[in-house]
Amino acid sequence: MLSFQELSEQFNKGFDKSHFPSSPATLYEPGEYFLKIGGKRIRPVLCLLGNELFNDLHEDAIHVAGAIELFHNFTLVHDDMMDEASLRRGKATVHTKYDYNTALLVGDVMIIRAYEYLQKIQPSYLPKILQLFNQTAREVCEGQQLDMDYAKMDNVTMDQYIHMITLKTSVLLAASLEMGAIIGGAGENNCKQLYEFGRKIGIAFQIQDDYLDAFGDAAIFGKEAGGDIKQNKKTFLLLHALAVANKDQKEKLEILLESNSEDKVEKVLAIFTACGVKDWAENLKAKYLQEAFEHLEAIAVMSARKKPLIELANYLMNRAQ
Ligand code: IPE
Ligand code: IPE
Ligand code: MG
Ligand code: MG
Ligand code: MG
Repeated sequence: MLSFQELSEQFNKGFDKSHFPSSPATLYEPGEYFLKIGGKRIRPVLCLLGNELFNDLHEDAIHVAGAIELFHNFTLVHDDMMDEASLRRGKATVHTKYDYNTALLVGDVMIIRAYEYLQKIQPSYLPKILQLFNQTAREVCEGQQLDMDYAKMDNVTMDQYIHMITLKTSVLLAASLEMGAIIGGAGENNCKQLYEFGRKIGIAFQIQDDYLDAFGDAAIFGKEAGGDIKQNKKTFLLLHALAVANKDQKEKLEILLESNSEDKVEKVLAIFTACGVKDWAENLKAKYLQEAFEHLEAIAVMSARKKPLIELANYLMNRAQ
């Protein structure tokens, strides 16, 4: 069995090559640019870990992992346009470095390439993988739409937030694990438990992402600090602050939500801090992590095999990048 680090190196060795033809360079060069600026490659490695939990690594898991990473990059290129984000992975986003139309098409060819990689796998489990891949892709679109809708709404609840981040983020982590498990020959119940493990980890992963967007070190996180605040994103930070703020803080927050002033981010952050969002985030992540581990325990394989997943989950909760 390989560790996260070893699987990651193995995946990167195969993935860090050209994914597109050379012409037209105006389309494919921006696509290669974005893939080459890297990223943590968590989802493809989750797929390989899902396979390894049950069986030796099969080359089909590598094809599916490649498809997943391309799909993920497609969502990021489009997400950066939707969020008006100029920085990702410490570099200029595709629509900033090139233009909007190019970024649209770069995203499109990435997802098409993803399906070409999926096509390479054994026909015996292709329908099952495709069904899960397509269901997940559709759910990510639904989550992304809710994310945009909520930014314009006043009364978003914490349950709606959790539902939205489940769709936009956590189902892809969950499906990455399950697709690996399917290739590893796992039975239905084990697949289900592993999916639930991934879904809970994914929720905590997005909670950490939202926390870092506000309080992270932009030089490490690689995205513009306070991007979500500028966009009035209904993250748990804002929802929790609105729920516990005193009258004065609440009024200030409501005025700030209407404004685009230079010091908006700074002022909102001060209220977030005063409202204790940091401790609240720690508790929320711990709750989802705990629930995730219960599902992992229910998987019928020797506990030693689960170690890399436990390590990865703990790393994701505390990441700064
Ligand atoms: C960013 O995902 C999008 C979210 C769902 C928060 P990652 O943090 O995995 O992005 P990269 O691929 O490592 O850059
Ligand atoms: C991203 O959520 C989810 C998807 C890309 C589907 P965010 O908008 O928070 O992701 P980042 O912070 O830009 O990576
Ligand atoms: Mg974004
Ligand atoms: Mg977004
Ligand atoms: Mg974010």
